[in-house]
Amino acid sequence: MRGALAGRGPGDRTALLLSAMASPSPPAIEVQHLTKTFEGVLAVDDVSFALARGSTTALLGANGAGKTTTIALLLGLLLPSRGSIHVLGEDMLRHRYRALPRMNLSSPYVDLLRRLSAYENLRVYAGLYGLSDVSARIARLAERVELGEFLHRPVGNLSAGQHSRIPLAKALINDPELLLLDEPPASMDPDTADRMRGWLERYRTETGATIVLASHNMSEVERLCDDVLMLKSGTLIDRGAPAVLLARYGRQNMEEVFLHIARGGTAAAAQ
Ligand SMILES: Nc1ncnc2c1ncn2[C@@H]1O[C@H](COP(=O)(O)OP(=O)(O)O)[C@@H](O)[C@H]1O
Ligand SMILES: [Mg+2]
Repeated sequence: MRGALAGRGPGDRTALLLSAMASPSPPAIEVQHLTKTFEGVLAVDDVSFALARGSTTALLGANGAGKTTTIALLLGLLLPSRGSIHVLGEDMLRHRYRALPRMNLSSPYVDLLRRLSAYENLRVYAGLYGLSDVSARIARLAERVELGEFLHRPVGNLSAGQHSRIPLAKALINDPELLLLDEPPASMDPDTADRMRGWLERYRTETGATIVLASHNMSEVERLCDDVLMLKSGTLIDRGAPAVLLARYGRQNMEEVFLHIARGGTAAAAQ
C-alpha cells in the first residue's frame, strides 16, 4: 500500500480505499470491547471498531467524551481495563514495540524543549525513533510543513501559530503508517490551518497512511475524513461517512450533526 497512492487523484484514492477495505489484509486498527476506567470514571465504555488501512477517521465528541483516552490506549500509553487492541496487525497488549515505530502522534500534550530550536527538537525525536539520515529527513519535513524561516529559532520564542506546526513535523518524522492527531491546535490562523490540511492530504496521498483525527473543527472533518466515530460519555454512539451522517440526521453540515448529538438528539428524533 505504501507509496501506491502517489500522484493519484481523489477518485483513484477512493477506488484504492475501497479495494483495501475489500482485501484480506488486517485493518489498520481493530479494537474490541475497549474499556478504560480511571478510579470510578468510565472514560471509554465497551467500544469496538475497525478502521481500514488508508482511511482518515474523525473522533468526534464533546470535551470529556473519551477521545484523548482512546488515542492514548491506541498508542499503548494507557492500558485498557478491558478489551483488545490491534494496530497495524500487532496485538498492542503483547507486541506494542513492533507497531510503535510505524505510528506517531501529534498532540498539544507533547512537550517541546523551549530553549532548543525546532531543528534540535526534531533531532531529539529522530534519536528516540533511532532514525538515520536525520539532517535530510528534517530538511524534508521543514519543507513539508513550511518551517523554513524559523527552523533554527528557539521554540520558546515562536508565536503560537508558528509553534503549532512543530508537533505535526514531529509526528511525521518517522514517516508513520498510522498518524494519530489529537485536536490540532486552535491557535493556527485560518491560512495555516488550511495549509496544515493540505500537508496532511499530501502526506496521505504520497504514503497511503491511515489517519485518526480528534477534532472540534467540523469543516476540517468534512474536508479530510471519510469516516466519523461519534463518542459520547465514552460510548461509541454512531459511525459513518460525513455524508451518511448528514443524511441520517437530516442536517446540512457536521456542525449541526455534532450539536444535535451532543445535546442528546438521536437519528430517529431527527426524522
Ligand atoms: N488520568 C486520568 N485520571 C482520571 N480521569 C481521567 C484521566 N484522563 C481522563 N480522565 C477522564 O476521562 C474522561 C474522558 O477524558 P478524555 O479522554 O480526555 O476526553 P476528551 O479527549 O474527549 O475530551 C473525562 O471524564 C476525564 O476527566
Ligand atoms: Mg482530548
